[in-house]
Amino acid sequence: MPRYIVYSPENNYKIVSARTTGHKPLLEMANLYSYVHALALLGSLLATPALCLADDNHDYHKKHVALFVLGDSIFDPGNNNYINTTPDFQANFWPYGESFFKYPTGRFSDGRLVPDFIAQFANLPLIPGYFQAEQVGFVNGVNFASGGAGSLVETFSGLVIDLKTQLQNFKKVVKQLRGKLGDKESNQLLSSAVYMFSIGSNDYLSPYATNSTIFNTYTKEEYVDIVIDNFTDVIKEIYKEGGRKFAIFSPLPLGCLPYYRALKLQQTNQTGCLEKFRVLAEMHNKALPKKLVKLEKALQGFKYSYFDFFTAITDIIDHPSRYGFKVGKTACCGSGPYRGLSSCGGTRGQYKEYELCKDVGNYLFFDNVHPTEKSNLQFATLLWNGDSNVVRSCSVKSLFELV
Ligand SMILES: *[C@@H]1O[C@H](CO)[C@@H](O)[C@H](O)[C@H]1NC(C)=O
Ligand SMILES: *[C@@H]1O[C@H](CO)[C@@H](O)[C@H](O)[C@H]1NC(C)=O
Ligand SMILES: *[C@@H]1O[C@H](CO)[C@@H](O)[C@H](O)[C@H]1NC(C)=O
Repeated sequence: MPRYIVYSPENNYKIVSARTTGHKPLLEMANLYSYVHALALLGSLLATPALCLADDNHDYHKKHVALFVLGDSIFDPGNNNYINTTPDFQANFWPYGESFFKYPTGRFSDGRLVPDFIAQFANLPLIPGYFQAEQVGFVNGVNFASGGAGSLVETFSGLVIDLKTQLQNFKKVVKQLRGKLGDKESNQLLSSAVYMFSIGSNDYLSPYATNSTIFNTYTKEEYVDIVIDNFTDVIKEIYKEGGRKFAIFSPLPLGCLPYYRALKLQQTNQTGCLEKFRVLAEMHNKALPKKLVKLEKALQGFKYSYFDFFTAITDIIDHPSRYGFKVGKTACCGSGPYRGLSSCGGTRGQYKEYELCKDVGNYLFFDNVHPTEKSNLQFATLLWNGDSNVVRSCSVKSLFELV
């Protein structure tokens, strides 16, 4: 049993072993934001191509649409609990999960992740992780995501389930579905399903974390192209299996996360974002939407929702109070400046002690990289409604409604 030493400035650095404070019900926040959503929806109706709009007469609640999830720690529901890796790539220890599940599921947050909320909005149960899916069944979808994964096999190689392996796992599931449901029914399930991706961030972190010499071989532009091309190859493979509806996250604003702010402060004694990381993520975020426009032209029936996660997070960091937060730059859980130096849980890095904030509802970030459940609900809502500031092409709601 690991021992957690938790102290927090709000608590005069008294050592506490467990948290007893409650959290505001999420419903309260949903009401607060409903008028924003109404406006956002209007915006998306105006900005969204007609093909993405669902017929108002359709009742999507009656249709069964599955949700398949691939990607990194932004979506990992605990798949990394089952692989041979290091605690850096796991979140199966307290206080992860403290707000909602009340136990550490392996999700890199205090509670639910965006795919959990999207499943809820679509009237689906929680989508099982790949290693549970066989028992639970595949008909509602499967979550293949793995913390630390990138679109390149080299990214944190040997420590994560890379995107190509996730694709192989998806293909195994498809085979079992075909065996169980027959071709007709499984084709229907696969073509109506929504496929969510969060991938790319780790491809830009891994070379620096592992002292790779990749940037001696490739320019930044070339490397970003390789990352994106490997990703779109996976999209094309899923399209070949029958997938048509894709919801795709941009990378995080790397460099502006608490971890990188703390690094910058340590390295330069200056505040602000660590630019070399931020720039790579920004380049990816500019190039990928162009690629998706091309894919839409090349692949018949291809529909997508692109979530500019980079901008959505950056805007909360810059204006936390507009979104109902008090703290945008500092994590709830961690240590050092911005609580960014060691990660939450005390089992990672050189620090055995960490601080845990008192009211997680004030924070954008739970640990030094990952958003809180409260932020995840906001992201899921933006994506579902297709907020035209940060969502391109279809809303995820319309993807679920499309026949
Ligand atoms: C990368 O290089 C730094 C500085 O030389 C070193 O401290 C660190 O241990 C290296 N990391 C890895 C993963 O090799
Ligand atoms: C995919 O990534 C590998 C490196 O893992 C690279 O050699 C290859 O060229 C990339 N594929 C594309 C289509 O860019
Ligand atoms: C870092 O910056 C602070 C505030 O600007 C200054 O007081 C301090 O002397 C600096 N430390 C170093 C090591 O440069």
